[in-house]
Amino acid sequence: PKITYIEHNGTEHVIDVATGLTVMEGAVRNLVPGIDADCGGACACATCHVYVDPAWADKTGSREAMEDSMLDFAEEVQETSRLSCQIKVSDELDGLVVRMPQNQG
Ligand code: FES
Repeated sequence: PKITYIEHNGTEHVIDVATGLTVMEGAVRNLVPGIDADCGGACACATCHVYVDPAWADKTGSREAMEDSMLDFAEEVQETSRLSCQIKVSDELDGLVVRMPQNQG
């Protein structure tokens, strides 16, 4: 599935991410800047914060409780904020658009 990652400065990266990886892994493995992922995907750092395009909110689902509390440590959290290590890539998410915040934590 193709995922579009948009940096805070507007630079777009369209990446083909393998099913089963997370949105975070898709960025890190392809050297897309803007996602730090300090904890490596354990939902314990909040430095993989992204904004999910509102058109995709239904498909990406909602935050788990732990994700929700970790987001307290992120900056400029919005309604659409998610931790990208908690979004698993599936064929359903082909075309997903996420935007990176200005800073990670
Ligand atoms: Fe640390 Fe997602 S990588 S919370």
